[in-house]
Amino acid sequence: SAFEPFQRDLPLPPVARPVRASKQLEEYVMDMKPGTAEILPGLETPILGYNGSFPGPTIRARRGRPVHVTQRNQSGRELNVHLHGGVTPPEYDGHPHDSIPDGAERLYKYPNVAHSATLWYHDHAHGETHKTLFAGLAAFYLLDDPDDKHLDLPQGDYDVPLMIMDRSFNKDGSFRYRYDLDRGFRGDTILVNGAVAPRMKVERRLYRLRFLNASNARAYTLKLGNGRDMIQIGSDGGLLPTAVRRKEIPMEPAERVDVIVDFRQFGVGSKVILHNEGGEPSTSAVMRFDVVKATGAEEARIPKLLREEEEIPEVNAERSWPLTFQGLAGGASMWQIGGGGFNEMRIDCRPRLGSTELWTWRNLSQRTHPMHTHGYHFRVVSVNGKQPHPGDRGWKDTVAVYPNETVVVRPYFDYYAGLYVFHCHAAEHGDMSMMGQMEVVA
Ligand code: C2O
Ligand code: CU
Repeated sequence: SAFEPFQRDLPLPPVARPVRASKQLEEYVMDMKPGTAEILPGLETPILGYNGSFPGPTIRARRGRPVHVTQRNQSGRELNVHLHGGVTPPEYDGHPHDSIPDGAERLYKYPNVAHSATLWYHDHAHGETHKTLFAGLAAFYLLDDPDDKHLDLPQGDYDVPLMIMDRSFNKDGSFRYRYDLDRGFRGDTILVNGAVAPRMKVERRLYRLRFLNASNARAYTLKLGNGRDMIQIGSDGGLLPTAVRRKEIPMEPAERVDVIVDFRQFGVGSKVILHNEGGEPSTSAVMRFDVVKATGAEEARIPKLLREEEEIPEVNAERSWPLTFQGLAGGASMWQIGGGGFNEMRIDCRPRLGSTELWTWRNLSQRTHPMHTHGYHFRVVSVNGKQPHPGDRGWKDTVAVYPNETVVVRPYFDYYAGLYVFHCHAAEHGDMSMMGQMEVVA
């Protein structure tokens, strides 16, 4: 049973405060610990959160200035932090074997060398992410670049991170999890920034909305009321080369889409619903924008050209990965990449540092797999032999591979050598063996 939408104002996740900051470095300390969130009126929902908050605190970072985060594990279980979309040396990436025991801490050093982008950090406990992500260990990491200034994108109050996820609830307000290896968890209630389908007052002006699908396994198709356009300016790996008008935006788990919405096209007093098309009825309302008068003049604009497309090296190798639901001896089945389950000894390939490769994801199953590579971004080359949607022509780190589809991507191994995993980001699939490992070699 779901809950009435649009009853609460959109909360914003807290912004993390560094314990020390200089021009060269920002340092944070965070406690991963239990907390409570008021999601349903009058009830306390137990969560596990960064600093005990749900969603966790947003880190705002700047390209060229490293961020160090000391994560202290006070959760009662083993954890492991992954900066999703981060270009990060392997020892700080959150590799499954780098877990933080309960009571211990770990220092993560993020160099912030890559493009400005909407990143996020979340738990990556080996085999347990479907529980820890579900319990609330997820937060934004917004990487800005001073060189983007000339674009005059909406900023400050007009630059809004929106973390979308689904949950179900028990009577006492606690999250209700139901294990489903096949499809992954699917809840009956949509939350944005931890509130049930909230409403947000927006002025008649331009807003940058940064959508993140932080669900375990649910996909969304976002659509504005009255079929109005959203102007996509970014995806996982940062700004697109050019802005793309879209009426519908599909989002698989872990994908990010940055859009500009021009609320000047609506009159004062309009209520504009953001829908999720094609889901169960209780999941169709995502949030609502209530349009009010603008305060002050518009300073932002919608740039057509966002970023130069950089030259990348020639393709050095081609690889193909079948994605299957494989029967095992004994009758059980498991999600697998390349005909095998995950183990830490497994090394599927050794890409050369500085090269690009062509990777073909061949989905031989009846479920969608959002395939994610750690440490590196890729371009989507083709989807079933055709050009990808223009919204997918920027740098990506997660790509939807629909049933029976073949998606070719071109990762660029441009920064760090070492061991990284790649996996399906449906949390239940990734935990259940749908994970491989590469060693990038210098
Ligand atoms: Cu967001 Cu290995 O994942
Ligand atoms: Cu999958």
